[in-house]
Amino acid sequence: MAITEQALEKLANGFSIARMTEHDLLEVVEIEEESGLSRWGWAAYYAELQGSNRDLMLVMRTPESKAPRVSHTLAAYIVARVGADELHINNVAVRNRYRRQGIGLTLLGRILEEGKRRGVAAAFLELRAGNTAALSLYEKCGFRLTARRKNYYSEPTEDALVMTIQLGRNA
Ligand SMILES: CC(C)(COP(=O)(O)OP(=O)(O)OC[C@H]1O[C@@H](n2cnc3c(N)ncnc32)[C@H](O)[C@@H]1OP(=O)(O)O)[C@@H](O)C(=O)NCCC(=O)NCCS
Repeated sequence: MAITEQALEKLANGFSIARMTEHDLLEVVEIEEESGLSRWGWAAYYAELQGSNRDLMLVMRTPESKAPRVSHTLAAYIVARVGADELHINNVAVRNRYRRQGIGLTLLGRILEEGKRRGVAAAFLELRAGNTAALSLYEKCGFRLTARRKNYYSEPTEDALVMTIQLGRNA
């Protein structure tokens, strides 16, 4: 197994957090599509994996991934980026069947820890105003609403909520 495929953290329930690799991308795109996120697609994830933010691309592997032939090995993924002293969380999505088990919260917590480790002052993200599941998740994680961008999203047109969390030592 390549070093990049080793688990960063094994969880008590058999799931594990690992860095995303290009072998994960077909499944990542599958989860993206079933989650209704704004589309990145294979090429954009692949390009991001070649850059300096690749350590901020994590997957949650299912316990079944140890079996030789399974239809999927990923339960979820998260993709973030550091720029201008801020951590920007771009995408987080959990497969339907694994939702409401704390996986989203765990992945967000892990990526915020990584942000702190890198010394960034704050993290932020945008979400569709009507995405109540994501809004609750981010509030539970400690994010606070800081702005609203009118008609930011298309297909369908919808406002974006901007949420922020302070990560600095005095936060
Ligand atoms: C949003 C999403 C990532 C949440 O993942 P998850 O693993 O199910 O979330 P968790 O189990 O960690 O939930 C943590 C908390 O978030 C809130 N939450 C999560 N899903 C919720 C829902 N459907 N309705 C209301 N609150 C919800 C709850 O407060 C929950 O705590 P609780 O279960 O103790 O009540 C998942 O629903 C998803 O992938 N949605 C589609 C993609 C998406 O919208 N991503 C965000 C884009 S900005």
